[in-house]
Amino acid sequence: MVRRAPTKWSGRAGVALLIALASFGCRGADMGVATPVQRGSLASTAQPATSSRVTPPAARRAANVPLELGLIWPNFPSGVPPDESEVALGKELFSERLLSADDSVSCETCHDSARGFADPRPASLGIHGKKGRRNSPTLLNAAYYENLGWGGQEPSIEAQSLAALTNPEEMGLEREQIPAKLGPRYGDRLRAIYGEATPESIVRALAAFQRMLVAGDSPFDRYIYGGDQDAVSEQAKRGFAVFIGEARCIQCHFMRSAQSHPFGGFSGTFTDNRFHNIGIGYENKQHTQDLGREEVTHNPADRGAFKTPTLRNVALTAPYMHDGSLATLMEVVEHYNKGGVPNPNLDFDVKPLHLTDRNKADLVAFLQTLTSVKLAAVASNPAAPESVSGAAP
Ligand code: HEC
Ligand code: HEC
Repeated sequence: MVRRAPTKWSGRAGVALLIALASFGCRGADMGVATPVQRGSLASTAQPATSSRVTPPAARRAANVPLELGLIWPNFPSGVPPDESEVALGKELFSERLLSADDSVSCETCHDSARGFADPRPASLGIHGKKGRRNSPTLLNAAYYENLGWGGQEPSIEAQSLAALTNPEEMGLEREQIPAKLGPRYGDRLRAIYGEATPESIVRALAAFQRMLVAGDSPFDRYIYGGDQDAVSEQAKRGFAVFIGEARCIQCHFMRSAQSHPFGGFSGTFTDNRFHNIGIGYENKQHTQDLGREEVTHNPADRGAFKTPTLRNVALTAPYMHDGSLATLMEVVEHYNKGGVPNPNLDFDVKPLHLTDRNKADLVAFLQTLTSVKLAAVASNPAAPESVSGAAP
């Protein structure tokens, strides 16, 4: 498949790649997608938000939403995509260290664009080198989550972003400090877009950027939704059969059929947006330090349950699980194969699987086909993302 090379690259390649690809939006037709009509008409009805913004009309332009094979239209709180100006500002703020109390940490520190917007350290380090208790999840495809955080503790990307800014173990800012600290550099632009320079407007810009981090169009998508039989190996095809068959991964890591979502396209987010206990973090099979979903619901039945993470781009985001305790995809498969870690709340769907060595290797090969084609180039050389910045994905 021939694809146009993005014309200009700047900044961290991971981010640049995504932004550049955002300008490819609505290319359904040249990708052999079954539903170019719905996609095209959706995009053409997308209008800039008509809120009380004070941006002069000329400066207002809805950002191009990256519609990608395998994913539906992302979820925008106002129903329409953000403006280009919001996304550009949010991108800058995302790597702005002024957003932390000691100017040492930005969002990018823990959500590294060259690592699938996740953190290769099992637990991230916040300001003053404070160690957090959980692994930073990927922000790719965050627009498709119904709850944010491993315990689903935040209802929106905005709320989760504000929590990061003010969490004493992450960025450690006092709410009241934020306008004075960011005002000199960003005040004018924030006011031009949102009419105010407040913590709320900052997180709106951050969220606008994050919602554009759509990353579908993996080899697997090209195979299953695009009909390209050669996009993945025979081993990966067998792995998919194990995934939906004897390993029962699909019970929680959902794909949706063409009929079951509102716009009739084909999609797979690989999450049910629910919470399950698969036994991670149980030391002596009875007790866990991190209560997970129980912290939110105060229901002891939710102890040790965590949000089902997407499996898209999972090959980029080791280590795995809420505590980063599993280093490789094979370790993850072994965890499920042995039936998780038995504990009083273990999910019904987690039981010994008796997979053969070949099944396990096939499953891993399948998981590796879920990486967006545009990101695979960055991932192949994460130490020097610039080196791929001129290459066409
Ligand atoms: C010190 C490391 C650190 C920094 C800095 C940080 N994060 Fe996070 N982020 C995390 C961790 C850890 C989690 C998981 C939190 C949890 O579940 O308790 C997370 C979760 C998230 C999520 C939810 C993702 C999901 O899949 O549910 C979003 C969105 C997010 N962060 C955005 C941001 C933004 C925006 C910033 C900058 C304002 C930021 N983060 C800064 C470590 C960090
Ligand atoms: C009962 C629901 C359920 C089933 C079945 C299930 N998963 Fe999961 N999966 C989860 C949950 C919940 C987590 C996060 C658990 C945690 O962090 O404590 C997870 C985490 C993962 C992760 C780590 C992702 C990351 O970003 O850290 C991978 C990889 C994974 N699962 C693959 C699989 C595979 C492969 C199978 C089939 C063998 C499978 N899952 C079956 C619910 C499930």
